[in-house]
Amino acid sequence: MPIFEDGQNAITLADILAPMTEEEFFKEYYDKKPLHIPGTADKFKGVMDWSILNELLSNGPLWSAKSLGLQIDKQAVPAALYCESREDRSGTMVMQPIAAKVIDLLHQGASLIANDIDMMSKPLRQIAGAFEGAYNGKAQANLYCSWDSRKAFSSHFDTHDVFALHIEGEKTWRVFETRMPHPIRHARHSNGTYTEAQHMEQRGNLLFDVVLKPGDILYLPRGQYHDALAVSSGTVHIALGLVSLVGLDIMDALKDFAVEDEAFRVNLPRLAQGEAVTRSVLIDLGNRIQKLTKDPKVLAALVQYQSSYSYDRSQYTLPIVSADKQFNLAGDQFRLVKDKAAVLLTGPRGSVPIPAGSEGPIAWILANKSFRRGAFLSAHERIPAAAADKLLSDLQAMGVLKPA
Ligand SMILES: [Fe+2]
Repeated sequence: MPIFEDGQNAITLADILAPMTEEEFFKEYYDKKPLHIPGTADKFKGVMDWSILNELLSNGPLWSAKSLGLQIDKQAVPAALYCESREDRSGTMVMQPIAAKVIDLLHQGASLIANDIDMMSKPLRQIAGAFEGAYNGKAQANLYCSWDSRKAFSSHFDTHDVFALHIEGEKTWRVFETRMPHPIRHARHSNGTYTEAQHMEQRGNLLFDVVLKPGDILYLPRGQYHDALAVSSGTVHIALGLVSLVGLDIMDALKDFAVEDEAFRVNLPRLAQGEAVTRSVLIDLGNRIQKLTKDPKVLAALVQYQSSYSYDRSQYTLPIVSADKQFNLAGDQFRLVKDKAAVLLTGPRGSVPIPAGSEGPIAWILANKSFRRGAFLSAHERIPAAAADKLLSDLQAMGVLKPA
């Protein structure tokens, strides 16, 4: 069954993982072991297919050599071979992929990687949002498209959990036994720390291999060695990566509180004072950190940080019912009259001098008779919004204006 239908407002993680339940996933597989969830060919209908992909890629200014990459024989294709220098939407010159050049390289066996596609359509936002809600993490999706059985990537591990959503064609994934112990994006704990020979050596024996078909999902906990090889011509999968907060992030959260304690702002002892002094300072600060970890305010801040640790996927809900206030002039007897140095606003109930600088705005109001606050503000951009609102409310209190 498709997980997305037109007009649908939410895709749940349960929809995506079905027939596996969310409970079973988190109990048995999450952060534990890889999982293959076979699906029906229509599972990702409306989420991604050739026509959706063509539409996305054809939106030229959305792409640059950074967001749309090509790989051939495990090497990145230089941008100059498939891009031209063009102005992007913010007016900056960027290397922009040219469809004909990209297609030519695909014919030569290149794989296409479209990065950061998780905001690019409603179903993609919903899928990413469903994972973020359940993971309390940040989701990011890249799309991989390849044409023949040349390997774009060698055996490697990722520093985030991966869900491969298989869209088109067939691809063999090999999952190896070794799981690196919770790698993160850190110089000593990421994929680039090792040479290809080291990767081959430490990936271990084959744990299992699986041919992914459209509708299938493969879950790989971070650190699990894997590689993939297209077995049919024209394969597409979306790799959804999930980054959660880790223990190290607590250090940052604690720092925010520690800075309020003077002990953390005092100079460390000079080396001449000897190691023993430094040791006692270290012990004292350690105790203070331990105290902070038991502080309910620190816990509350951490929970708050975690609950908001996701990308903003808020959507537009146009048309809106305008909340902009409408004003009408309370009659047509109001006039601006010059009286020596002052300008008076006269009306049926008498005259009042108007504050300096408000002659223009009041003349505008008398001429327009019926207007929206927004129109008044944009006609008087030099007046701060607060001052403009005060004038409108003063005129209302004087009975010159009435709200519609
Ligand atoms: Fe990977």
